[in-house]
Amino acid sequence: MSKTLVAYFSYSGNAKKAAALVADTIGADTYEIVPAVPYDADYQKCVDEARKEKADNARPAIAGADAEVSAYDRIALVFPNWCSTCPMIILSFVEKYDLSGKTIDVIVTNGGGGVGNSQADIAASAKGATVNTAVNGNDLTADKVKEIFGL
Ligand SMILES: Cc1cc2nc3c(=O)[nH]c(=O)nc-3n(C[C@H](O)[C@H](O)[C@H](O)COP(=O)(O)O)c2cc1C
Repeated sequence: MSKTLVAYFSYSGNAKKAAALVADTIGADTYEIVPAVPYDADYQKCVDEARKEKADNARPAIAGADAEVSAYDRIALVFPNWCSTCPMIILSFVEKYDLSGKTIDVIVTNGGGGVGNSQADIAASAKGATVNTAVNGNDLTADKVKEIFGL
């Protein structure tokens, strides 16, 4: 049976909530992607930091214990749309592990910009993985989660 890890990054709580709904609905483990250097609590300063990371094509460091990704064949990435794509720390996560042969789901909370370029940007970093069509994570429901995961 396919085993899924829900790996999430959240700045203001929306993606965290969506990740919890996914994990609860499909009975998956979760892993929080925590930045080694926290983003500024001030929203505008955080936007400035995120813009700079994107312009620099940065790979910000991840704090804490590694995820045991080898134990899973499907990874659901849940995160906010930042600057029309994923936060750069999502690419740090994707490039840190060998995800070849795994299936990646992309679930994106956003402020109206939808999933942006996140799917293509993750696919470019996740060598050998199959990246499913990105899903808008706003207004996620258990039924929608079941549909995504074929339950
Ligand atoms: C640094 C930053 C950049 C953002 N850029 C975008 C964007 O380009 N498009 C968009 O629709 N929303 C953008 N947002 C809004 C977030 O995607 C939205 O509020 C999301 O639900 C936040 O999820 P979170 O609570 O898990 O952090 C941005 C928010 C931040 C903090």
